[in-house]
Amino acid sequence: MFKTVEWKNNRVVMIDQRLLPEKEIYRSYARYEDVAGAIKDMVVRGAPAIGVAAAMGAALGASAVKAKDLKGFKKEFARIAKTLASTRPTAINLFWAIERMKGVVEENGDLSVERLKKRLVDEARTIHREDIEINRLMGRHGGRLLKDGSTVLTHCNAGALATAGYGTALGVIRGAIEAGKRISVFADETRPFLQGARLTAWELKKDKIDVTLITDNMAGYMMKKGLIDAVVVGADRIASNGDTANKIGTYSVAILARVHSIPFYVAAPLSTIDMKIKDGDGIPIEERDTREVTHMKGRMIAPKGVKVRNPAFDVTPNRLVSAIITEKGVVKPPYRRALTRLFA
Ligand code: MRU
Repeated sequence: MFKTVEWKNNRVVMIDQRLLPEKEIYRSYARYEDVAGAIKDMVVRGAPAIGVAAAMGAALGASAVKAKDLKGFKKEFARIAKTLASTRPTAINLFWAIERMKGVVEENGDLSVERLKKRLVDEARTIHREDIEINRLMGRHGGRLLKDGSTVLTHCNAGALATAGYGTALGVIRGAIEAGKRISVFADETRPFLQGARLTAWELKKDKIDVTLITDNMAGYMMKKGLIDAVVVGADRIASNGDTANKIGTYSVAILARVHSIPFYVAAPLSTIDMKIKDGDGIPIEERDTREVTHMKGRMIAPKGVKVRNPAFDVTPNRLVSAIITEKGVVKPPYRRALTRLFA
C-alpha cells in the first residue's frame, strides 16, 4: 500500500498527488519551507493529510532551529508555524495540527531545547498514527449506515490519500466492506482538480473496491435512475451548527440527494469541527489559480481573457446533511446540540 505522508529518517516523505495516477513518485523534504510549499501546491491535499503534513513540517522546522535557549526557540517556532499556517485557508485540520504542536512547546517549558525538539517529532508522529486509528473508528461507526449491496456516491477524494491512511468517507466504505457488506462506489470526477478521477478511482481500484467513474454533471442522472443508495463525503471544516465546507460541487450533490430522498452523510474527525464558528458563512473559502479552470494538462480549453472564478470549496447547509460520522459516533440533527455534546 502507498504512504500518503510519513516521517522517515528525519525527513517528510509524501507521494506526489499531482502526478497520480500516471506516476507514483515520492518527494522527500528536509526543510519546513518546502513542506509548506508542498501543501500549497497540493503535492499533499485533503484536510487530515494537510494537518499531518503541517505537524511534520513544524517538527522538521523545530529540529533545525539554531537557538539554544527556550525564548529564542519559541520565537523561531512561531515563525515556522506562521509559514505553515499561511498555505491553505479552508481545511481547519491545518490550524488544529499547528495549534497542537504549539501546545507541546507551551506545556514543556521545563525541557531542554534539544529534548523539546525530539518531543515535537514524537507529537507529529503521534498525530499521524492517531489519524489512522480515528479513521478506522469512523469506518466502524459509519459502515453501519450502509446496507449490504448498496451503491455509494462520493465526491472529491476523502480516502487514504486525503489522510494518514484508510480515509474518512472512503474509510466508511472500507468499514462497511470489512464488516462483510458488498458496496459499490460511484466517484464524481471533481472538476477542476480531478481528485475523484485521479485519486479516488486510483485508490479504490488499487484496493479492488468496485468503482465507477462519472463526471460531476452525471450525478443527477444516476440518482434519478435509482442507481445511488447513499452519498458519503468528507469535510474540510464543519461549523458548530453542522454547516459543512467540502470540495466545490458537494453542495450541488447534497441538493440532488435531498430531491431524490437519498441520505447524505459527512464523515469527518473531531479535528475538522470548528466550534468557534457559528455557521457556514464564517468559513473562509479558498480561491485558487484560474488556470485550473482554463487549462487541462497545460492545454488551454477556454478563450483567452475570459472571466473565470475558481472557488475550491462550497458550504452545504446543515439541513441537507442526514448525519455526521465522527470517531466518537454518528450524530444527527439538531447539530449544534449534538456537536456541543461531542466536545463535552
Ligand atoms: O483541495 P483538496 O483536494 O485538499 O480538497 C479535499 C476535500 O475537499 C476533501 O473532501 C476533504 O478535505 C476531506 S478529506 C478526508
